[in-house]
Amino acid sequence: MYAVIGGSGLCKLPEFELRSRKVVRTPYGEPSCAFLFGQLVGQDVVFLARHGYGHTIAPHEINYRANLWALSQLEIDGIVAIASVGAINPTLKTGLLVIPDQIIDYTHGRPSTFFEGTEEPVRHIDFTWPYDASLRALIHSAADASEEPVHLGGCYACTQGPRLETAAEVRRLAQDGADLVGMTGMPEAALARELDIPYAHLALVVNAAAGIGESSQAISHAQIAEVVEEGMGRVMAVLKSLVGLGRD
Ligand code: HPA
Repeated sequence: MYAVIGGSGLCKLPEFELRSRKVVRTPYGEPSCAFLFGQLVGQDVVFLARHGYGHTIAPHEINYRANLWALSQLEIDGIVAIASVGAINPTLKTGLLVIPDQIIDYTHGRPSTFFEGTEEPVRHIDFTWPYDASLRALIHSAADASEEPVHLGGCYACTQGPRLETAAEVRRLAQDGADLVGMTGMPEAALARELDIPYAHLALVVNAAAGIGESSQAISHAQIAEVVEEGMGRVMAVLKSLVGLGRD
């Protein structure tokens, strides 16, 4: 069974046949909302809305540890994390789906490890390749099978938010080697690795990052809303193809 963590624009999974809803408590507090168990194209899937049902939880306020710990208690094959991102690399056009392969973390003050406190021996997880290579390949095959173009690779910069970046900050991210920018990939990906859960991003480019191309003067929220609306249909097509892959 796959877990899908939905981001902005994907607080619910259309076409998901809901079977049950479960509120989970964890040693780290409460997850973003109840877990939704159900089926997508006849296959079991568990869904979690990262920002809560009504999109009320800001990126820096998400209880990533509770979300990931609760998922670790389920028998899941991996986590497909859906994210809306801004494109820093001008070749990644608005509307494109991307499966990134690297991360740079610019967040601060977010509880970002399970290995702290006097009870827990410290562990330094290997994070050279922050995403699970097999899961990335599976999502890529799923996208191919559903004839949805996706870009494989790219470096995801995770900023603190909730505000968008300045043009100068985006220039710095570009110099650092980032291709995409979002606000929720970390510590989510690192916590998944700490728990040995395969994790990969399926990102939708919803805008050019601040100062770039169409966003040279400002980022248009109206345009983002349009892209999200259209793009999440394609995200769903890839997800359906992914969960259906092992079926026959
Ligand atoms: N910056 C940060 N996060 C984002 C953006 C952006 O431009 N677009 C969507 N999420």
